[in-house]
Amino acid sequence: MKDLDRFAITGAVLDQLAGTPDPRLKRILESAVRHLHDFAREVELTPEEWLAGIAFLTAVGQACTPHRQEFILLSDVLGLSRLINVMHDARSRAEGATETSLLGPFFREAAPEVPLGGSLAARPESAGGKEILLFGRVTDADGAPIPGATMDLWQTNAEGLYDLQAEDPSVVDMRGKLRCDAEGRYHLRTVKPVGYAVPLDGPVGRLVHRQGRHGHRPAHIHVLVTAPGYQDLVTALYFADDPHIGSDTVFGVSASLVVSERMGLPDSPRPDLPAVRYDFRLSPLAAGATSGRVGADPSRMAAAVAAAEAARAG
Ligand code: BEZ
Ligand code: FE
Repeated sequence: MKDLDRFAITGAVLDQLAGTPDPRLKRILESAVRHLHDFAREVELTPEEWLAGIAFLTAVGQACTPHRQEFILLSDVLGLSRLINVMHDARSRAEGATETSLLGPFFREAAPEVPLGGSLAARPESAGGKEILLFGRVTDADGAPIPGATMDLWQTNAEGLYDLQAEDPSVVDMRGKLRCDAEGRYHLRTVKPVGYAVPLDGPVGRLVHRQGRHGHRPAHIHVLVTAPGYQDLVTALYFADDPHIGSDTVFGVSASLVVSERMGLPDSPRPDLPAVRYDFRLSPLAAGATSGRVGADPSRMAAAVAAAEAARAG
């Protein structure tokens, strides 16, 4: 029998995993074990630090509710969500298609229908900000229009709050679904969003503070574009004049997604408003593939966990 010293222990664990029947699971677990052990050796992790890490992960789990996914937030602030998005884009985004961004925790399936030209601002309180127009087209990766694509948009109000952060959770504001016309064109009015801090009142927030980070995201509008035969596009448009445009806490910004509102844009359906023109380009859906959407509504995640537990129990 071999003594399990600081290096032999890794091989012993890998030996025990060697019979994992699912080859993908085997590969993921072997790599996770190798990296975890290397990490512990590299920083000379002490028992107290290991326990502090366990306590932290326990607190992250305990902070999760049907409406809050603290593990995704942890993945976001560590840049893992961005990395997964970048790798997914490299595998499945057609050349010329729009880059993706994080779905974030504030997406809700249920959003009011907004007619073309309508406004995301449902309440007079939201209308206090700067009204802007967003217009453009939804096309395929080569620029051919996709008729009747559906767009979901959601954002903060002029105070930097999502409706879900309001005291009354039944409030629905600054979000909507709209359908593009037969040439893939869309236009809608909204209030220029303001940047905000990611939820900092839990264990991940305490970590962000201990790291001396500001915790903010630059102002943005989230967009989910769907059309039959195309991958769901989860992305966001970021405003260039936000002070945190170069230091997003969750690393969601790409240069191709940075916009500015301006007057006098050709073809603007509302020349009286400052406007952003943005064309969203979708990737084709590979035969037999799922939606290609990256990210999950936290309430769906809770349902998925419950279903997995029920399957295990039954
Ligand atoms: C958001 O954009 O809404 C968001 C994304 C990731 C973490 C927290 C918030
Ligand atoms: Fe957001």
